[in-house]
Amino acid sequence: MKLTDERRKQLRITVDYTNMTEKYLGGKGISEKTLHSHSKLAKAAHAYVHANRGKDELSMGWTELPYNQSEVVADILETAKLIRRKFDAFVVLGIGGSALGPAMSFNALCHLHYNDLPKSKRKGPKFYVEDNVDPVRMKELLDVIDVTRTCFNVISKSGATSETMAQYLIISDLLVKAGVNIRENVIFTTDARKGNLVKISRSLGGVKSYVLPDGVGGRFSELSPVGLLPAAVLGIDIKALLKGAAFMDKLCKSSDLRKNPALLTATLQYISMNNGKNISVMMPYSDNLRCVADWYAQLWAESLGKNVTLDGRPCNVGQTPVKALGTTDQHSQMQLYTEGPYDKVITLLAVGSYKEKTPIPHAYRNIPDVAFLGGHTMEELIQAENKATAYALTKAGRPNYTIFLPEINEFTLGQLLFLFEMQTAYTGAMLNINTFNQPGVEAGKKATFALLGKEGYDLQRHDIEQCAGDPDYIV
Ligand code: PA5
Repeated sequence: MKLTDERRKQLRITVDYTNMTEKYLGGKGISEKTLHSHSKLAKAAHAYVHANRGKDELSMGWTELPYNQSEVVADILETAKLIRRKFDAFVVLGIGGSALGPAMSFNALCHLHYNDLPKSKRKGPKFYVEDNVDPVRMKELLDVIDVTRTCFNVISKSGATSETMAQYLIISDLLVKAGVNIRENVIFTTDARKGNLVKISRSLGGVKSYVLPDGVGGRFSELSPVGLLPAAVLGIDIKALLKGAAFMDKLCKSSDLRKNPALLTATLQYISMNNGKNISVMMPYSDNLRCVADWYAQLWAESLGKNVTLDGRPCNVGQTPVKALGTTDQHSQMQLYTEGPYDKVITLLAVGSYKEKTPIPHAYRNIPDVAFLGGHTMEELIQAENKATAYALTKAGRPNYTIFLPEINEFTLGQLLFLFEMQTAYTGAMLNINTFNQPGVEAGKKATFALLGKEGYDLQRHDIEQCAGDPDYIV
């Protein structure tokens, strides 16, 4: 992708927060005074994040991913070329932060029916992200792929996640039974030194592996090999993705919340949370951005949902993310957003130029209710509905802001991801919590170990068995 200075300027994403303000929302909006009174807190959050950027011990290595991967990017591009030549399908085996990023880039930057296209029209092999252990899903994946002609990218930072390891056990067994050397069809993305995938790789004599760097947690890993390898296999320009992230990073240098888009959205969300807005709705007006809402949901929920501050005080903070899609969910959730409880902030993702315009033909001139659509394009229709939603929400006193992407491409997606990551880091700093751990997720993982009889978890298994299934409470 050619990125002249002029082109970068054209592709800059912007945040329009008009409909968050008192001027447009009346008493339900944020006043200039309130925003101003938060500028000191915003500056402190900015200073904290920027002072600690790149520090692995604080899990902030992700801030440097746009800059420190030239060698690994070159390796990934070579490997992707080989994969495209050799395999019919590429399957990501991972969950949470090890799956949502690859699924998002695939959805955003590839054809919406990519796997149904003939081979000549696809830039890479068929693509699947298997982020569950639903037994039906596993079986039915195996109905549509030939394991011997499939590359499996096993992604797990810990190498100890039951879902991913169960998938790997099934696949490796099938490969062996089919007479294929596991090393030929499997690539690991994992920690540099620790974890079971490192041990398995050693036992197999060295499986091709990419490192999920220290200081990069699952949900902040999309710009690491976790996301870059699958994207490169799909023919996505990963260098442009990283350049987009670096471009946004530059916009985030300012500690002035009116100049730094991520600091602005973090402050708006923080003020809203303190005003009882417990729900963050992410509503892209584009099918290609649908999975951005999934990815954001994990980033926002897992990072901010915490019960203790950094100085050890109890707290129960966070905002529940809700995924919506424009215009589809106008016909499903919008009624609640405009007339239900005042507990939401709605982020709309708008697109300036869609890759298709899709004209709507003139017809039925004698039926005005239908005829008015003729001569417009579907692009005009979705953009009008996007604006109409912002207007309707504002008229109903519902805070909403719009993140505007001039186009959807690698450069704008890179900006968007980095904006959300920075927004999350700033908001966590304002809340004074550890944004980068996930003890609640770990608890579920351990309880699963106990239920499946892993050694050392007997007491916990006993405890779990006490917790559910009391016949007195089953109707
Ligand atoms: O963001 C996170 O840390 C989690 O969602 C993890 O990515 C998820 O639990 C999978 O963990 P792992 O990559 O260790 O298999």
